[in-house]
Formats: sequence, C-alpha cells, structure tokens
Amino acid sequence: MPNTVKVTIQPSQFPEKVRRDLLESLRRRRVNHKFHYDSLRQTQKWLALHQAYSPARNDADCRGIYEKSFAAAAARIKTCRVHVIGLGCGGGQKDTRLLKLLKHRGKEVFYTPCDVSAAMVLTARQTALSVVPKGNCFPFVCDLATAEDIHKCLVTRHLSLVTFFGMIPNFEPQLILPKLASLIRPRDFLLFGANLAPGNNYAAGVNRILPQYDNSLTRDWLMTFLLDLGVDRRDGDLRFDIENGRFNLKRIAAHFHFRRARQLEIDSETFKFKRGDSIQLFFSYRYTPERVRGILNRYDLKICEEWITKSEEEGVFLCRKL
Ligand SMILES: C[S@@+](CC[C@H](N)C(=O)[O-])C[C@H]1O[C@@H](n2cnc3c(N)ncnc32)[C@H](O)[C@@H]1O
Repeated sequence: MPNTVKVTIQPSQFPEKVRRDLLESLRRRRVNHKFHYDSLRQTQKWLALHQAYSPARNDADCRGIYEKSFAAAAARIKTCRVHVIGLGCGGGQKDTRLLKLLKHRGKEVFYTPCDVSAAMVLTARQTALSVVPKGNCFPFVCDLATAEDIHKCLVTRHLSLVTFFGMIPNFEPQLILPKLASLIRPRDFLLFGANLAPGNNYAAGVNRILPQYDNSLTRDWLMTFLLDLGVDRRDGDLRFDIENGRFNLKRIAAHFHFRRARQLEIDSETFKFKRGDSIQLFFSYRYTPERVRGILNRYDLKICEEWITKSEEEGVFLCRKL
C-alpha cells in the first residue's frame, strides 16, 4: 500500500497499559514523564521550549561536541553495516546527523527510531529518510521506563550504535541503566548525552541551571498535563525545588501544590486532592562528568572518550561494554 508505514508498538504502549500507567501516576502522585509528550499541544510546547533553551539548538559549542562524538564513533566502527538505535529519539535531528556521517564514511546504515510517542518516531523516521533507505528504517514505540526485555525487541543483525541523548535526567538511574546496558553487546557502541551541573561546586552548579527549568515555557508545558485532566490553574502553584537523590545525585523537581481541593474523575476512579496536597510533575537529574563515569561504570559501561561543552552544562560520552 503506498504511503503506509509499519510501526512496531511494544506492549508497554498498548492503550490499556497507558491507561493503567496514567491511573498509577495519579494514585502515586508521581507523573511518568511520558505523559508530558502525549498530545499534539504538549509536543508543540515541548518543541518551543527545546528551541528556546536546549544548548544543542542554541550553542555552537554544544553542537560541536555532538559532531566530534559522531566522528569518533564512526572512526572506531570498522564494520561496513551499522544499525543506529535512537532511544528517546524525539524529532531525530541528532540521530540523522550521525547517520549522515556514517553514510559519508561508506557505511550501509540502518535506523530504529524509538520513542514513547508514535508522532515522534514518525517524525524521526521522516527526518532520517534523507539518509536511510525506507527499507532500513524500523520505527519502534515503547515506554523505556516500563518495557520488559527491550534487549529482545531491539536485537539487530549488525553492529549497533545506541544513542541515548537528553534522556538520563528524567529516569531513575537504577531503573534505566540496567536496561540500557542490556542492549549493548561487546561489539556495540553507546553514545550517551547527559545534562550536567557546571563548576566545581555541585550544589552551586545545580542552583545555577535552575532558571532553565523555572520559566514560563516549562511551566506552560508541564501544566498542560494537569489542565487536560480538569485541574484549574487557580487550584494551586507549580514550584521548582532541588532534591537529593540516590548515588549522591541532585535533581530539579517540579511539584504542583494544591491550595484548594480538587476532585478528578478518570475511568470511574476518583482522585481527591486536598488543600496542601501536591503531585510531582517532573524531575531532572543533573550529573557531573565524575558522576556520569561512576554510574556508567556501576552498570559495566566503560567510557572510551568524552566531550564536555565549555559551559560545562552538557557532555557526550562514547561507551562500550566492560
Ligand atoms: C528530552 S527529549 C530528547 C530527544 C532527543 N533524544 C534529543 O536529544 O533531542 C526526550 C524524548 O524522550 C521521549 N520519552 C519520554 N519518556 C519516555 C519513555 N518513558 N520511553 C521512551 N521515550 C520517552 C519523549 O517523547 C522525547 O521525545
């Protein structure tokens, strides 16, 4: 059939599972980040925010570290076929630059754009088609936080180059890193991009980047989830705080604090929020290069090379399995 696209949907994103995850997020008062990328409105708001604040979009030096990491990965890969797996691919811009470089080096390229959002994997596929033949592109929808056995779903015949850009801040490291490590075989490579806290003083560094989160575009994006469920803006306040997490990590967290009662009815379940209750909408762990090295090593991932921006706010790490 002309113009149709085959997209593989992993059970973690089947409608009944997504519904259960939504109810679970409300019961636990901790929102799975995937619900901030659900609707067209949320995607548009996130793209506006990304455009305004992402160093990869606004800082030539940051774009430069990605280019260097792509060139280094391509130089190390000796096989003639490479399969890029873009985990949390978003619009696929970075993955496509990587694929282009691999192709220029004479590699036959394959691509699996993987994201929780079907719209994102289709956008990433479209972007990548300038470089990858249609038959070598395998869009894959899954929730990396809850999917079981993703290493069985993402098996490739050729050497895999897995990209994990801008993803680590929004996951509990002890939950996502074992999954990520399970995807990397001894011959494969991982390109890992992390948002960092600048400077020598970790706490001061996290404080310094707080305005990148506590701003009107981010507030607007995060609030969309609650407003779509029936919460009113005047029901409370969205506040950003710095919290201590496991592994000596700090994160910026956003909670909505109710200043008046609100009741939500979803799937015949009632969720009652009282004045003084709160719900966690978002968190973002910030690492330092030492913390990235330590945590990757804990999961048997060895860093071969690394690139850090002059601002010290972003780093890319080329890794292999120990
Ligand atoms: C910060 S963006 C990063 C996009 C891209 N990698 C980049 O660096 O530009 C996060 C992406 O992760 C996706 N995402 C969020 N939660 C996810 C989950 N649980 N499983 C898979 N993808 C997820 C979002 O849809 C979004 O495209």
